[in-house]
Amino acid sequence: MLDVYKIREDFPILSKKINNTDLIYFDNAATSQTPNQVIDVISDYYKNSNSNIHRGLHSLSADATDKYENARAIVKNHFGISNSFEVIFTSGTTHGINIISSGLEKELSSKDELIISEMEHHSNIVPWQMLCDKTGSKLKIIPMNSDGTLNIDKYKLLLTPNVKFVFVNHVSNTLGTINPIKEIIDLAHLNNSKVLIDGAQSAAHFKINLSELDVDFYVASAHKLCGPTGVGFLYGKSELLDSLPPYQGGGEMISNVTFKQTEYAELPHKFEAGTPNIAGVIGFGAALEYMNSIGFDNIEAYEKSLLDYATEKLKKIDGIKIYGDINEKISVISFNIKDYHPSDIGSILDQFGIAVRTGQHCTQPIMDHFNIPGTVRASFSFYNTKSEIDLFTDAVEKATSMLG
Ligand code: ALA
Repeated sequence: MLDVYKIREDFPILSKKINNTDLIYFDNAATSQTPNQVIDVISDYYKNSNSNIHRGLHSLSADATDKYENARAIVKNHFGISNSFEVIFTSGTTHGINIISSGLEKELSSKDELIISEMEHHSNIVPWQMLCDKTGSKLKIIPMNSDGTLNIDKYKLLLTPNVKFVFVNHVSNTLGTINPIKEIIDLAHLNNSKVLIDGAQSAAHFKINLSELDVDFYVASAHKLCGPTGVGFLYGKSELLDSLPPYQGGGEMISNVTFKQTEYAELPHKFEAGTPNIAGVIGFGAALEYMNSIGFDNIEAYEKSLLDYATEKLKKIDGIKIYGDINEKISVISFNIKDYHPSDIGSILDQFGIAVRTGQHCTQPIMDHFNIPGTVRASFSFYNTKSEIDLFTDAVEKATSMLG
């Protein structure tokens, strides 16, 4: 599989003490940690290449441009994308979704319908509600089953002729559920509907080939993939991206500007107005290379072993309820114990140096479905260990006796 103790040496933050104990970082679904291989590339960029891209003829600018475009090629190859110009760098998943939602404002009318699911993150709910407010289009919701999977039979019924778009996450940030997106995409295409997949929580955990999925749009963030915050990408089929208006006006996204008329630049520049997060994009490329050097098959198998180990141990705790305890999920466990408030458990875990997320996880409809105020969420990455899980489950037991 993989040598986790050797891998841990790549991550300086993992040696940090929190509250005088070793940090146990189980909040990877919120953001992943960053290895030296990425930190060094970003630092080297500022030391040796810092310059604006696509603008200057001077050597530094050419170097920065090469590194930036090399990162685009890395993203293209990693995600099985046919053309580099179909990769738009963004500030993250939310930005990617908003490029599409604002681009659709003139395309939709009150006759049109859009589909999302009950298990979306707020970032894949609110932009579509705002779009429906502006266009009069109707938002329809795929319901969730009590085991935390999507009700695909209900989805089939929702796919009526007026449905123009389907927006669904690949993996639930709260439950870890891996949704059957190939089936969701194929069913939508049979209905002549286009599909956007929110890949924020999937891209870090297994290899994804967007050409094979035949998805129309896909969005993800670098910081869930050992990369920096403030950067991500939007993939779109070129004919679809070409048909959308730009999201922002400014420098770099034009080919010709006069006071009579402005012509927009070709893809991908049409959607990359202004000076982008150059160091972040270069760091994103380095992060993908780092993860590929470990191997996504290794990452997937190792994280599954952590998930199984932790699930089995947690299930022994009196009064625990795990939400979305199914096979097809990534290494995320959301739970509650008796009627203890999740934030009380989270605060006690923090005293033991353990970082988890507590609350609604930006998925209030999931909480409403289960009629709970929130959950404690532990999310594991390939640099976590079974010994950390032992310490974590011991600490959860201590927390419950302190609260009980
Ligand atoms: N969406 C991120 C999470 O689930 C921030 O924590």
